[in-house]
Amino acid sequence: MKVFVTRRIPQEGMAILKQAGICEVSVWDSDEPVPRSDLLKRVEGVHGLLCMLSDRIDTEVLDAAGPNLKVISTLSVGFDHLAIDELRKRGIRLGYTPDVLTDATAELTVALLLATARRLPEGIQEVKSGGWSSWKPLWLCGYGLSGSTVGVLGLGRIGLAIAQRLKPFGVKRLLYTGRHPKPHAQEVDGEYVPLDTLLCESDFVVVSCALTPDTCGLCDKAFFSKMKTTAVFINTSRGAVVNQDDLFEALSIGQIAAAGLDVTSPEPLPTDHPLLTLTNCVILPHIGSATYSTRATMAKLSANNLLAGLTRDAMPSELKL
Ligand code: NDP
Ligand code: DGY
Repeated sequence: MKVFVTRRIPQEGMAILKQAGICEVSVWDSDEPVPRSDLLKRVEGVHGLLCMLSDRIDTEVLDAAGPNLKVISTLSVGFDHLAIDELRKRGIRLGYTPDVLTDATAELTVALLLATARRLPEGIQEVKSGGWSSWKPLWLCGYGLSGSTVGVLGLGRIGLAIAQRLKPFGVKRLLYTGRHPKPHAQEVDGEYVPLDTLLCESDFVVVSCALTPDTCGLCDKAFFSKMKTTAVFINTSRGAVVNQDDLFEALSIGQIAAAGLDVTSPEPLPTDHPLLTLTNCVILPHIGSATYSTRATMAKLSANNLLAGLTRDAMPSELKL
């Protein structure tokens, strides 16, 4: 059987694929994404595909692969880059990487929230540029978590882990919203509220939901207009959940205090993007799960998912389509 791996991945994952001895592995041996035209060529006739969240796996790719394709394994928990309906129709199984990246992503979200709310990038820049003239009572003040209300949009695996990490900072109320109340919300004394209530009452709004047709563009002008002018907005889910023009306006006119984004649309964000001109917007290059050990574990899990798909066995983490 033939498999194609669309990027250089941690060697722990490659070793599993090679040692299994059941497939011929071909790799796009680069840290950069495989160009679309090469992807379309390299998938021809494969039985398995190990892909990244930046590879758009749509009908065109599936057609190019042809009828051998039995399994796709994505090195991500998000699956918005895959044509799920087409996979279902074609009987192609899908492996993904939930849980193993929850801690790393929640930790990064807390780091981003603190960096944004306490204005760390601005402070660092002032130290480097000589803007630090003395200790000043009103200089570089931000917002603290103690006594605050935090609202989490999407209290899933990562949303819960974020809430668990934020509570010990002295958060007074933890609100959340989503399609359904979550029993695990009890662990953080979470109150299930309508979105509007969450936006009006939260000092920090953290987005941790999946990207779906319902959440695409959800954070728009109307959304930001309901937030407090002192509130901090954080998104570590997917860039397309946010209308970036509306976010730019909300940050520019002081509709909200600050934003921290680990994800943007597109990725990478062009270096001349207006959001990058704002001091109250902190943008990271999609590094939520980027610890050495998490990425190694993700690589192993995605390799094992792929192999199980090839041998028609139970996958360690299969998304039931
Ligand atoms: P989960 O499936 O556990 O959580 C997703 C949550 O989204 C669910 O609780 C779901 O709640 C909620 N949700 C779905 N639709 C809506 C909606 N319309 N409004 C509000 N909430 C909604 O996934 P994970 O926590 O493991 O991952 C979440 C996302 O984080 C991933 O899909 C991915 O996009 C992103 N991610 C980003 C990373 C990064 O590097 N920045 C790293 C890892 C993940 P309900 O069931 O009530 O609908
Ligand atoms: C995911 O897994 O969906 C993240 O965005 C990257 O780890």
